[in-house]
Amino acid sequence: MSELSVNQEQDGSIALLNTPFERDGTKIANRLVAQPMERSASTQKGELTSELISEYITLAKGHWGILHVEAMSVTSQYRSRKGQLVLDDATSRDLKDLLVKMWECAPETKYIVQLTVPGVVTGDGLEKSTIISSVHDANPAIKLLSDGDIDGIIDAFKHAIDLAIDAGIDGIDIKACHGYLGAEFLRPANTRPGPYGGSIENRTRFFKELVIHARNAANNAGKKDFLLGSRVSVAEYIIGGIGTAGPCEFIEDLAEVKHIASMLCAWGENFINVTAGIPAQVPEITRPVKNVPWGIWNHFRLTKAIKDHLSSEGQHPAIIGSAYSMLGKDLPHYAGKNIMDEAVDLIGLGRQVLADPAYPEKLFSCSQQINFCKGCGSCAQLLREQQHVGCAFYNPAFKSSLRT
Ligand SMILES: Cc1cc2nc3c(=O)[nH]c(=O)nc-3n(C[C@H](O)[C@H](O)[C@H](O)COP(=O)(O)O)c2cc1C
Repeated sequence: MSELSVNQEQDGSIALLNTPFERDGTKIANRLVAQPMERSASTQKGELTSELISEYITLAKGHWGILHVEAMSVTSQYRSRKGQLVLDDATSRDLKDLLVKMWECAPETKYIVQLTVPGVVTGDGLEKSTIISSVHDANPAIKLLSDGDIDGIIDAFKHAIDLAIDAGIDGIDIKACHGYLGAEFLRPANTRPGPYGGSIENRTRFFKELVIHARNAANNAGKKDFLLGSRVSVAEYIIGGIGTAGPCEFIEDLAEVKHIASMLCAWGENFINVTAGIPAQVPEITRPVKNVPWGIWNHFRLTKAIKDHLSSEGQHPAIIGSAYSMLGKDLPHYAGKNIMDEAVDLIGLGRQVLADPAYPEKLFSCSQQINFCKGCGSCAQLLREQQHVGCAFYNPAFKSSLRT
């Protein structure tokens, strides 16, 4: 990225990122969001380890507006990586304890957990599953889930939602992105017969069940300001993917996904976290690289399109934008302008979270040197290798565990 000539302290963008965001009684202390980042470092049962707890405490000390706990599987049967965290009866106490520790460091931060089932996105040695028969036909090793299996997954999700709310979480993200199972349901290419495929009503049934359940559970727990949303790959860039007009289409058409965003909000979601692509297929779409900034502009464009559509429908969920990490020291300028232009509400950071968990604290105090993400790709490599994920550029311990 080229260097900016503006002085960001003077152009007010840093101060703007440090302003609270308020919507319908929910207050976010500042505009910076630590996106979910799988660290692939749980115990065999999917429990938190002392190392992971200390990494999350360090992250909390950064004083983010929202801090996501990474993608947790709702069932130990399906895990994306051998070290993926699981949220079930055996592990919910861990989440409760972690929240208490993070609140002690940053009581003003909102803590969200991302819930998921991996589907086809799993590391070597783990079970892959799909709801789309053509995916199974192309690779019969991928288990085709029956309607009964899907019902069981919905039950597991509902249970995990209840456990998260009981643990005291401030919000839940029901994952609909990056090629994981939730995203498969929403695809026009999901032509499966039965209640979960074909018509848009059927393809959104999974989310309708979960969103309504979660909103009711939060209300019953007296959590009126509960954050409920989904991270959605609003354009997957595959044939018949989310962001196309039909099972055989590949030209981008956002009409249907805009409608899906409206449906999610009507059922009770109050944030949408906009992302793009399927990183296991084309990583640069989801995680832009420095020398091809198109990926950044594409995320900005998609985010604005979803926000504009929802506003035109009179819906005003918090819109979280993605893919800001490669902007480095220019990040506040672009993020501030997007907020001013009403193209986004909250600024989500992924790889920058690993490079410098204290990013907001350092940025707002303007007193300490920030470790900017260099885009070296080592965090993603560690994830692929199913190793403990961290920033290998700034932390030699992670560098030495890289296999190649
Ligand atoms: C190592 C690694 C782990 C990730 N884990 C998750 C995750 O658990 N859930 C999720 O929605 N996205 C995950 N992502 C995607 C990031 O949250 C983010 O969307 C992506 O890195 C682009 O944003 P950035 O340019 O700020 O890094 C992960 C990315 C990386 C590199």
